[in-house]
Amino acid sequence: MTLHRITLKTGADLDGFRRAVRRLVAEELAPQHVVFAIDDTPGLFGREATGDAPPVSIPRGVARLIEHVVCHSDPERYALLYQLVWRVLNGERDLLEVASDPLVHRIDLMARSVRRDLHKMHAFVRFRRMTGEDLERFAAWFEPEHFILEAAAPFFVDRFPSMDWTILTPIGSMRWDRKILTFGPPARREDAPAEDSFEEGWRGYYESVFNPARVNPAAMRAEMPKKYWRNMPETAAIPGLIQTASRRVERMIEQEATMPTKRTPERALEAMWDQEPKSLKELNAVIAKAGPLVPGATQAVFGEGPAHAEIVFVGEQPGDQEDLQGRPFVGPAGKLFAKAMSEAGIDRKDAYLTNAVKHFKFEQRGHRRIHSKPTTGEVKHYRPWLMKELELVKPKLVVALGGTAVLALAGKATPISRSRGRAKFGPYEGYITVHPSYLLRLPDEATKREAYEAFVNDLRRIHDLARADPETGELPLAAE
Ligand code: URA
Repeated sequence: MTLHRITLKTGADLDGFRRAVRRLVAEELAPQHVVFAIDDTPGLFGREATGDAPPVSIPRGVARLIEHVVCHSDPERYALLYQLVWRVLNGERDLLEVASDPLVHRIDLMARSVRRDLHKMHAFVRFRRMTGEDLERFAAWFEPEHFILEAAAPFFVDRFPSMDWTILTPIGSMRWDRKILTFGPPARREDAPAEDSFEEGWRGYYESVFNPARVNPAAMRAEMPKKYWRNMPETAAIPGLIQTASRRVERMIEQEATMPTKRTPERALEAMWDQEPKSLKELNAVIAKAGPLVPGATQAVFGEGPAHAEIVFVGEQPGDQEDLQGRPFVGPAGKLFAKAMSEAGIDRKDAYLTNAVKHFKFEQRGHRRIHSKPTTGEVKHYRPWLMKELELVKPKLVVALGGTAVLALAGKATPISRSRGRAKFGPYEGYITVHPSYLLRLPDEATKREAYEAFVNDLRRIHDLARADPETGELPLAAE
C-alpha cells in the first residue's frame, strides 16, 4: 500500500491537523500508511487535508492534549498524535488512563513541556518602551522552545488590554494594538528595544524583595533558566545578590535579635492585636501603619459605607483612581458598578464597599500605572484585616466581586463560572458574582450588554437576599 502524505503548515497547525484527521479517519487510513510533512511556505494548507470529511468524536481529554502537543517543536508530533487518535477510535477509548503506555507517556511529556514553556513565557516576558514612537508602544523579545505564540496570546491580551504591545520571537511575532491581535513573521533580537528607563525601577524592586536566606541558585536556575535572564532587567542584579547572599544572611541572623518588628502579616497583626481594634477606625489605623506590602501605592484605601451596612461588597484592590482619591470604587469600574447597583435598586450609600487588598499594585508603563493582579500571598497578607472588618460591620450578606474576593473570603480560589450565586463565607451568608471591571474588558458591545444584564440580575438577587427575613426567607411586602 502506498504511503499517504499530509502536509501541514509550520508551527502549531491545529486546524490543518484536525482537517487531516477527519479525512484520514473517513478513509480508514491507519497511522502506518500516513506520513506527516511540514511545509514552511507561509499560508500553505496541507492539500491532502482539505475537503469536507465528517467530524470525529474524541474524548475531551484527548482533544485538550492535542491542543497542547501540536505546539511542540518535535517534527514527529502530528504522527504521534494521529497514532493516539487512531487507537482511541479503535477500541482503546480510555487509552489516556494507561500512563505506562509508551505512546501516552511520550505525548504526556510533550504536553508538559509545552505547558512549562507557556508558563515561562507568561512569567518572563518583559516589555520595553519603543523609542522614537509618537504613540506609546512596547515590545518584548522572547525565545520559546515550542510553537506557543498563539496559545500564549490570550494571557497577554487579558493582562495588558490597554497597552499597545508587540512580542517578537524567532518563531513569529504578535501585536496587540488595544483592539486587534495580529500575528506576523519571525523576528530578530535586534528588532526589540534593548533597555528603557523603567529597568532601573525593576532592578531596584527586585533587590528590595530579594531574600538572601532563601537563595538556592540551582532551584532559581531550574525555575528561571539562564537563557531568559538577558531579557529581564531585574536579573542583572542576580549574580551580585547571589555572591553576597551568605554574607547578608549572616548579617540578618546577627541583627535578628535587635530588629524592629518585621512587617510580615502575622507579626504585624500579633503586635497590633495587643490592642485589638474595636472599631473600623482603629482597624484602619492598623492597616495604614503597616503600609503597602509591595511599594508604590499612594495610600491605603479603606472600606467605605455605613458601619453596620446590611451588604458588604468585596472587590479586588484599589485601582489608579482609588489610590489617588483614597476611596474604593471611584474609577471606571466603580462608576459602572454604581450604575448597576442603582438599576438593581441598591443605593450605593447604603452598602459597605471594600477590597480584599487595601493598596494599589501596578506596573509603571511610561506615564501610566497599569493594574497588576495581587498574588495569593498578598491576598493572604490582607485577609485577617478583611475578616476583622466583616466582624466589625456584621453584615447580613457578603458579596464577592470576582476571583480575588472569592479567594480572600473563601480561602481558596474557585472559578466564578462555577461558583456564581449564593455562597457561605465562614459565618456569613454570601454571594459570588463577577467583578465590574470584567464587564469593561469584554470585547464587543453585545457580549458586554449581556454580561451587564446578568450582573444587574445578580445585584437584584443580592438586594432581595439582604432584605429577606432570615427565618422565613420572605421579602418585605411593601417596596422600600
Ligand atoms: N476595583 C476594585 O476591586 N476595587 C476598587 O476599589 C476599584 C476597582
